[in-house]
Amino acid sequence: MKIPLTRRDRFLFQYPPFEAMRAGEAPDFSQPAPTGKDGKKEGFQVYLHIPFCAVRCTFCYYGMMPNTYRRFAEPYLEDLHREIDMLADVPYLQDREVETLYFGGGTPTYLKEPKFEALVEHLRSRFRFAEDMEFTCEGEPTTIQESKLQLLKDLGVNRMSFGVQSFHPEIARINGRIAKPQIVDRALEWAKKTGFRVMNIDLMSGMLSETMETWKYSIDRLLGYEPEHMTIYRMEIKPGTQFFTQLQFNPELRKQFVGDEPELEMIDYAEERFGELGYTHHTHFSWISKREYEHTHRTNCWRGKDLIAIGESSFGLANGHLYQNVNPYRPYAQVIADGRLPVACAHKLSRHEQMTAYMVMGLKLLSIGRAAFQDRFGVDPLEVFPREVGYLEEQGAVEVGDDDIKVTRHGCTYADSFARVFYPPEYRQMDEVAVGTPAFDKMPAEATNVSELVALEVSAKQGSWETSAQSYGNPGDEGNGAGGHSE
Ligand SMILES: C[S@@+](CC[C@H](N)C(=O)[O-])C[C@H]1O[C@@H](n2cnc3c(N)ncnc32)[C@H](O)[C@@H]1O
Ligand code: SF4
Repeated sequence: MKIPLTRRDRFLFQYPPFEAMRAGEAPDFSQPAPTGKDGKKEGFQVYLHIPFCAVRCTFCYYGMMPNTYRRFAEPYLEDLHREIDMLADVPYLQDREVETLYFGGGTPTYLKEPKFEALVEHLRSRFRFAEDMEFTCEGEPTTIQESKLQLLKDLGVNRMSFGVQSFHPEIARINGRIAKPQIVDRALEWAKKTGFRVMNIDLMSGMLSETMETWKYSIDRLLGYEPEHMTIYRMEIKPGTQFFTQLQFNPELRKQFVGDEPELEMIDYAEERFGELGYTHHTHFSWISKREYEHTHRTNCWRGKDLIAIGESSFGLANGHLYQNVNPYRPYAQVIADGRLPVACAHKLSRHEQMTAYMVMGLKLLSIGRAAFQDRFGVDPLEVFPREVGYLEEQGAVEVGDDDIKVTRHGCTYADSFARVFYPPEYRQMDEVAVGTPAFDKMPAEATNVSELVALEVSAKQGSWETSAQSYGNPGDEGNGAGGHSE
């Protein structure tokens, strides 16, 4: 029986959930650098966090400091330089190449040009960049100047990623975006002129007061820029955001947010327009104009390659551990001053968790190569997860072929929900505590939780989820290599 999917679950960043990480645990960077089957040292990915923005947008839950904290920018950069020096000396990273570098935030383009240059040059002096390294920099339009974009390009940025959220001036304003339309246009035109290999534009669906009319306007304007890569994040309202607080005082505000069904119609519209212009999905929430513009950093991280976190609050995956750096800034600065790497908490993935992470994140990447899985773990995914994959197939979420497990259009729409099918009970419980937070999302309180529905249906029908886990090891097992990740 097909489960009526009444709404989509919130965005899944990594497997296992954040809550699985424990203080006091950390990856062992004194281990030797890992080598691949060809005997060569494996490459790794880098995420570097710049936690500054001009203002905090009403919806934003990312770790950031608005302009009033700008006095911290300089000391923060000095701390980053020290953290880079410490990391460059660890045995685990010796003789390895940086395959992809991602400057995220906050707003990396908040940095002044000489500071940005010094930071990249310092990284380059301490690490070996791969010749074809993908280098992404996130940017917010009010912090862009033409000369800054040229500098970024000269420094090796080849993937410029802009947060726009909505091209409709009223929707942008109501949702707390400060960039006026002419500022957004100017930034994007300069970027086109500068000529980055890939330009990505982020939009958000389900924004406050969005209508089909404002959405169509925004999609038209987006496509006018012919970006190589486009991302549509679903608005999620999380504790700590201004929207969350406003909803506590004014529950009626909920009604002004787009519900899941009309939001899905908007996504369908965008999907149709993108398809007409030859865009295809890269992940369930992003599109590319050509295969060559695939976002390698995301693919590598989600396929479980090592990700080294730099900066306060960053997430990483190294030596089989999912981990997060200390945050906010003051305690982070203290750890750096003490001459220690700023890892706050970590979780060592068992072999079974690494395999689960591969499946969970693989669903979000819309395909799981059976040979790649076999190559990595020495077993076919169908042998490890027969019930889960069988269930997804029955639900029309995947098609199983000899070479791969491909996610269908239905599976793509509900990827974050279907991916949770692989969760063991303890993680499902952690996940539901978070999902159950009032106003965690904007749906009416009576809406059904998809992962709960899926879990109930499956356990009633096929017995305990632990059955297949047990045959391949328990969460406490030792693992080697990498698993899921988060950016
Ligand atoms: C860290 S921001 C970087 C972009 C840049 N700071 C800007 O906003 O222009 C990355 C993206 O996260 C998304 N995002 C932020 N808050 C969100 C929320 N509450 N729900 C869903 N997506 C969100 C936005 O699409 C944003 O572009
Ligand atoms: S959405 Fe971007 S600009 Fe707005 S607060 Fe978040 S990180 Fe900063």
